[in-house]
Amino acid sequence: MTNIDLQKLPQHIAIIMDGNGRWAQKHALGRVSGHKKGAEAVRDTVRACRELGIKCLTLYAFSVENWLRPNSEVEGLMRLLEEFLHSEIQELMDNDIRLMTIGNIDALREPVKKVLKESVGKTAKNSSMILTLALSYGSRDEMIHAVRKILNDKDTGKITTEEITKELFSSYLDTSLLPDPDLLIRTSGEYRVSNFLLWQMAYTEFYFTDVLWPDFRRDDLLKAIAEYQRRERRFGLTSDQIQKT
Ligand code: FPP
Repeated sequence: MTNIDLQKLPQHIAIIMDGNGRWAQKHALGRVSGHKKGAEAVRDTVRACRELGIKCLTLYAFSVENWLRPNSEVEGLMRLLEEFLHSEIQELMDNDIRLMTIGNIDALREPVKKVLKESVGKTAKNSSMILTLALSYGSRDEMIHAVRKILNDKDTGKITTEEITKELFSSYLDTSLLPDPDLLIRTSGEYRVSNFLLWQMAYTEFYFTDVLWPDFRRDDLLKAIAEYQRRERRFGLTSDQIQKT
């Protein structure tokens, strides 16, 4: 098992769970079987993060672009999500995990929307960890919605132009309750951000691994955290300045 320093954990980990399709192909299975196996990796990762004491975990489960996949795959993913929420709600409650979502939830079909709303409501008072699922999510859409809401609030006199700051903009995003991610993990050997948390990841450390998402396990998470802990986060300052703080 990889050693990590429990005193220097990232507060917020975001993950682009990629490679389900390739995993399925490698095992001569259909794509939805890859996603099913991916849901097991989700379960393991949530457990591992909770046990380690990670405060926020955000998972890119379905992007706005994913709607363009074959209907059978979209349907399969929606069914999986529904099953996952039904089967995990008790574990979320037992472990004091709050479920949140980012993205255009209204675009999801009714049964998924229903169980999502119930799970979000039921776990709202849990506070040991926040698990956020990005669903029908696209960072550019999120920013456009924020701009529209800001303009609307300006029109109605709620805010002035001078009050528009980075902090105010952040508070209009779906992620308003979350700190910016400290660590982004992307699996399956792809080196892209794919329209995920573009504003929020200005100073995030990126970690890429060749492991396909369905194979991602606790030790892969520990490796990512260990690598994060070896990095020096400078936030635009010099190394000397950081060492003096
Ligand atoms: C990317 O792999 C993965 C997705 C588009 C969906 C992620 C969904 C899950 C991990 C399972 C369900 C989620 C939850 C929260 C229960 P890909 O299909 O793009 O893989 P490929 O690039 O190898 O084709």
